[in-house]
Amino acid sequence: MEEKKSIARAIERLTGGTQRRRGRCWAYGLAALLSVVTFVLFWCTNAFRDAILWNLELRNGSRSFLLWQRPPVGLQSNIYVFNYTNVREFESGIARKLKVQEVGPFVYRESLSRTNVHLHENRTVTYQEKRSFQWISGLSERQNVVVPNVLLMSALAYSRDLNYLLQIGFTMMVTGLKLRANPFLELPVGEYFWGYEDELFEMAKRFPPLKQSLPYDKFGILAFRNGLNADRITMYTGTDDLGSIQRINGHESYRIWGDEKCDRIYGTDGSMFPPNLIQQQPNATIYVNAKEFCRQLPFRYERRSFSNGIPTLRYKLPSNVFTSTSNKDSCFCPKESYDSVTRICPPAGTFNISACKFGTPLIVSFPHFYSGDESLFQKIEGLTPQQDRHESYVDLHTHLGFTVATRMRFQLNLEVRKAVGMPFSGNLEDGSILPLIWVDMVFDDLPESIRQTLYLSHYLVNAVEAGLQWCSLIGVVVSFGALLAALRNQEESNNATKPTTTDRRTVELDRL
Ligand SMILES: *[C@@H]1O[C@H](CO)[C@@H](O)[C@H](O)[C@H]1NC(C)=O
Ligand SMILES: *[C@@H]1O[C@H](CO)[C@@H](O)[C@H](O)[C@H]1NC(C)=O
Ligand SMILES: *[C@@H]1O[C@H](CO)[C@@H](O)[C@H](O)[C@H]1NC(C)=O
Ligand SMILES: *[C@@H]1O[C@H](CO)[C@@H](O)[C@H](O)[C@H]1NC(C)=O
Ligand SMILES: *[C@@H]1O[C@H](CO)[C@@H](O)[C@H](O)[C@H]1NC(C)=O
Ligand SMILES: *[C@@H]1O[C@H](CO)[C@@H](O)[C@H](O)[C@H]1NC(C)=O
Repeated sequence: MEEKKSIARAIERLTGGTQRRRGRCWAYGLAALLSVVTFVLFWCTNAFRDAILWNLELRNGSRSFLLWQRPPVGLQSNIYVFNYTNVREFESGIARKLKVQEVGPFVYRESLSRTNVHLHENRTVTYQEKRSFQWISGLSERQNVVVPNVLLMSALAYSRDLNYLLQIGFTMMVTGLKLRANPFLELPVGEYFWGYEDELFEMAKRFPPLKQSLPYDKFGILAFRNGLNADRITMYTGTDDLGSIQRINGHESYRIWGDEKCDRIYGTDGSMFPPNLIQQQPNATIYVNAKEFCRQLPFRYERRSFSNGIPTLRYKLPSNVFTSTSNKDSCFCPKESYDSVTRICPPAGTFNISACKFGTPLIVSFPHFYSGDESLFQKIEGLTPQQDRHESYVDLHTHLGFTVATRMRFQLNLEVRKAVGMPFSGNLEDGSILPLIWVDMVFDDLPESIRQTLYLSHYLVNAVEAGLQWCSLIGVVVSFGALLAALRNQEESNNATKPTTTDRRTVELDRL
């Protein structure tokens, strides 16, 4: 009987064991389920990438928000000046063509900060840009150059539409003030860029309509880029449309070109692009909002590339971007007269920003009139357009959509607009387009520390993602193996503890 009892206890233990086993099965089942969920998450969805993208969103206090307000790397601007070398011969009529010589580069480091930042509830942020330029290398700013007198030419362009009497008055005033009334000036490059004393400008500043619109106190050809920019920019901060500019000064339109399509504000500031767009449609055209030209610039997908040690996507500015014709971008061309429908477009390869710059007769093009019309070269000697030196592109991170490298190259030109009743423009022909400077904005030689971080983060993210994917695969295999083993185990023990069997055994024991 003793024996019988202990065997019964053993049987009891055995059945208790079955319950424990069943519990284990549940645990393995749960683990298998979890591993399937993580597997699906890492292999079939973008959960991991989305988590990284989520970190890119600009939120109060986040790291990306701080980096965005004060970008740690500045753009480098290589600036080239066109020095007019035969002005005396040209003015005296000996030379029929003006001769220019490219002088440079003058290399500046541009630091950008975004100030007066206000985050809104609806995933937008409003801010202003503040830039400063520091000369770092290249030719000295003290070099003297001979350049067109932009202020005088602007004054002529303004007074072209005044009546004859006012023009005479203006002429007398300019002559009386003994201003620098030559069509060309000789001055140091630094002053030409960032501002020089000019009585004409001092006079203009006191002129009420100009008083508010002039953002600087000394006139320089790049002075408008230096310092706090008055424009308040509103931009989206979520990953769907990260970086897209929604409004400038509260308006969704530039209200410059008198046309809805050309006036619409969209695109980003060029430092980042919506990552979801880049991931889903890498070959779509992306847009940069070029506030200084009052328009957007399309960048077309070109190819996969490699910069700063990581794979990138290259987007290029089409070579005909500055060409407006009656069937392409005609809304950028000025109307023939105020109430007319016909528009007159500038020569191919030039973009008229006069309307965008308070009527200053400025024209934008590629450097050396690259891809520009033949007529542009007829009055100027010394220009040598070259595709690889004079085109613009951005290289974007393939997943995150931020700019890893870029080269933006533009040339600023002056249009000669003579006023009939006024001297001062010498032998210059009405409508000539005179090159002033060209700027090569570079962001491709990152400092070593940042390059390494970028390299690491790219490969680390990929490695971690791959690691997680393979781990989840192993997890699935292991947990399913365990589950199967547990199930088989349970089935076996079920066979061993089947009531019939136990009954039979008890009977046998009884018989003993
Ligand atoms: C620009 O041209 C003028 C006139 O030819 C010359 O005197 C001057 O040295 C030139 N400047 C530079 C920086 O080459
Ligand atoms: C961020 O939050 C802090 C504290 O809530 C607030 O003082 C600050 O103004 C916020 N910053 C922005 C840009 O909204
Ligand atoms: C977001 O909020 C700001 C401030 O409240 C407002 O000016 C802006 O129009 C809003 N934007 C959208 C898209 O609703
Ligand atoms: C982008 O590529 C896809 C196929 O890879 C193609 O179907 C689509 O038309 C392309 N889109 C553009 C804008 O080129
Ligand atoms: C540039 O635009 C201004 C005004 O918008 C116009 O008066 C001028 O004729 C234009 N110049 C060219 C070359 O189209
Ligand atoms: C369990 O018992 C059934 C018959 O009762 C048998 O077919 C099966 O193979 C047994 N399973 C194991 C794992 O021994």
